[in-house]
Amino acid sequence: MATYPELQTKSVMVSGAGRGIGLAIAQRFLAEGAHVLLTDIDEGEAAGVIATAGSKAFYRQVDVTDLEQVEAAVASVVERFGGLDVMVCNAGIGEIAPLVEATTESFDRQMAVNAKGAFFCGTVAARQMLCAGRGGRIILNASGAGKIAPGKATPLGLYAMSKHAVVGLTKQLGVEMADAGILVNCVCGGIVDTPMWDLIDREVTQRTGEKAGTFKAAAVASVPVGRIQTPQDMANTFVWLASDEASYMAGQTVNCSGGLLPY
Ligand SMILES: NC(=O)c1ccc[n+]([C@@H]2O[C@H](COP(=O)([O-])OP(=O)(O)OC[C@H]3O[C@@H](n4cnc5c(N)ncnc54)[C@H](O)[C@@H]3O)[C@@H](O)[C@H]2O)c1
Repeated sequence: MATYPELQTKSVMVSGAGRGIGLAIAQRFLAEGAHVLLTDIDEGEAAGVIATAGSKAFYRQVDVTDLEQVEAAVASVVERFGGLDVMVCNAGIGEIAPLVEATTESFDRQMAVNAKGAFFCGTVAARQMLCAGRGGRIILNASGAGKIAPGKATPLGLYAMSKHAVVGLTKQLGVEMADAGILVNCVCGGIVDTPMWDLIDREVTQRTGEKAGTFKAAAVASVPVGRIQTPQDMANTFVWLASDEASYMAGQTVNCSGGLLPY
């Protein structure tokens, strides 16, 4: 049963929807009755979702670092579903290295996907929504690392820089778009059970020589609510931010982290 019936008439695009949090967000919007374009550089599990969703969903290969691909994707949602109501800027990558060891190539990769990709998806959607004149929602997947330093034991410094950029984008685009009824907000998650955290665990334990899985387990043990976050926990916040109940939210960074984030 749909929690937010108003989403049944909405058209949604999700970037990075081939797996993990993006996939869960796309599935939740479909469960609410929305029409969804799932995009990714790798179709992954999106294929199965498309197979069961019928005409309510389609997949398109989109690299968020390529402006032309993002523009073509937004145009395809408008053509297929008659407009774009919700853009979810979710695609992201994380690479492990203390900042003094981090390379220029790693900086460029993470900034390109996380910061530039969010800028492309957010602003292309905003231009489309301004043109259509019927408002909209732009919801970005930032991170706790967009607000605080991940810490010395969690060497995600470049990732944190790129996610602070996503928070900055949300604040400014949020105030620029609010009077057009286009509400821009971002979500800061904690330790979400996806392939990304498995990769972080593998890379950190390889560096420290600890047993695989121990880093992730210790991180989860530090979460105040006492369990790892599921992609569905994140999806709950995204659909709420797209719903009528969030109609007074603009330019905000919303924590969904089981108490991990202090502010
Ligand atoms: N996992 C966590 O603990 C966590 C916490 C907070 C925020 N986040 C953020 O949530 C988002 C999703 O993370 P996840 O954990 O699901 O990661 P994930 O690695 O499981 O999935 C990321 C998806 O993004 C896609 N992608 C990568 N580069 C892309 C590109 N250039 N263009 C389009 N798609 C691309 C990948 O193919 C993959 O399907 C990311 O922005 C991440 O930073 C994750």
